[in-house]
Amino acid sequence: MNLAKQHTSRYAITVTLILSILIAALVFGLIVLLRPDEAAHEDAEFKRDLLSIAGIYDANKPIDEQFKQVTIKLVDLDAGRFTEKFENVEVFDQRAASKNPELSDPVAAEDDIAKLIRREKYAKVFLVNDKNGLSKVILPVRGYGLESIMSGFIALDKDLNTIVGFGFYEQFETPGLGGEVDSPAWKALWIGKKIYSATGEVKIDVIKGHVDNQAVDAEYKVDGLAGATLTSNGVRNLLKFWMGDTGFKPFLANLKNGDA
Ligand SMILES: Cc1cc2nc3c(=O)[nH]c(=O)nc-3n(C[C@H](O)[C@H](O)[C@H](O)COP(=O)(O)O)c2cc1C
Repeated sequence: MNLAKQHTSRYAITVTLILSILIAALVFGLIVLLRPDEAAHEDAEFKRDLLSIAGIYDANKPIDEQFKQVTIKLVDLDAGRFTEKFENVEVFDQRAASKNPELSDPVAAEDDIAKLIRREKYAKVFLVNDKNGLSKVILPVRGYGLESIMSGFIALDKDLNTIVGFGFYEQFETPGLGGEVDSPAWKALWIGKKIYSATGEVKIDVIKGHVDNQAVDAEYKVDGLAGATLTSNGVRNLLKFWMGDTGFKPFLANLKNGDA
């Protein structure tokens, strides 16, 4: 190789090296810069989902301002009472807890109608207050549909029995079939329905076909999704799980008695 050629290739290697370092620094810088943005975006999205499902989202108001009416608390599900176990409730990751052996328990096969395998010991609950005190309680629920775990919230009126909002913020059922759990028309069917019978059993149900609104127990029934009975069954089962003794029933009973 002659001297001129050697110079050219050394020059090319140096330029490539410098460029690579510059690009890597730029990418790293962008990642660091955008990370807080991403976290803030996720936080806003979570709050928007929660308020929307509960039917109290106002697109014209800043999300953080709206969220001031919401108090986040942690519930010990077995005890059915609020717990101070974790200092910063807001950052408690319930989904991660459900997979952590120290923070979750296996679900007995006969109880595992929502197909969760493990259930976390602690759950986040969201209390909405107005000038008269507690106005709504929003609870996280999840369970298997046909193809995916469906995760959402159910919002109850202050009677702790009447549904004021129900929906999923994440599900991967088939669009047009099970995916219709997200359709506004279906979600609207849940409003005003009741969960518990007079004797306290979980009576809410998803039926095949249409509910006869004149029937005595129509307030406990919701139309199943046409062509998606398996997803509809999943919704019924996850509600039975989370509203029953395996979920929030002990907590709601204590809250009703002012003993949570
Ligand atoms: C490609 C494909 C995707 C499907 N996705 C769903 C689904 O997301 N949820 C569901 O319940 N059924 C789904 N089904 C239909 C179920 O296999 C089953 O037929 C249906 O749940 C029965 O409901 P039906 O009694 O209301 O017809 C799917 C079927 C096919 C072929």
